[in-house]
Amino acid sequence: MRSLKLAAVAALCVTVSACSKDGGSSSQAPADAPTPAAAPAPTDAEKTAALAALPAPYNTGDLSNGQSKFALCRSCHTITEGGPDLTGPNLYGVFGRKAGGKEGYSYSDAVTAAGFVWDAGQLDKWLADPRGFMPGTKMTFAGIKGEKDRIDLIAYLMVETGYKPQAK
Ligand code: HEC
Repeated sequence: MRSLKLAAVAALCVTVSACSKDGGSSSQAPADAPTPAAAPAPTDAEKTAALAALPAPYNTGDLSNGQSKFALCRSCHTITEGGPDLTGPNLYGVFGRKAGGKEGYSYSDAVTAAGFVWDAGQLDKWLADPRGFMPGTKMTFAGIKGEKDRIDLIAYLMVETGYKPQAK
């Protein structure tokens, strides 16, 4: 009698678990569905690796100081891929891009005529004194006087804006 009852319970369990398996998988389908392929944000470890791969002296940059210096820029610039232009152009992909080369942004004649490609060295001079480096620019920013602060900020920008070493 007892074993029969157990068998019945076991059978019931199989049925129920079979049911809950079916029911479960269909009711949970949305949660199980693969999330749309949004590029995952780089982890801190990936950023540290990207930093170490930068050319000197940027490979020794302090990303958290760079990030806090970027606070000076963020009222006018976004740095995320596909981010909007604000007062200044979106800076994603700026390294290796022609000065004045962001499509859809209306630059001053000075930047449009500059005729160089942005690299860390140009950016360093620009950030030290934008209007001294390029008279006529409409970027109204006083500049960052501390050399180490510029290095940290440039390292941060390289890591965040998709810098790729130039093929030599
Ligand atoms: C008050 C607004 C403002 C601030 C603050 C500002 N910028 Fe700009 N930035 C601009 C404008 C406007 C331009 C376009 C200049 C032109 O066309 O003459 C520009 C242009 C640039 C460019 C050239 C982009 C290209 O596509 O050629 C770079 C690089 C840049 N800014 C970096 C920075 C960084 C880094 C900071 C922070 C340290 C900063 N800017 C702070 C307004 C600003």
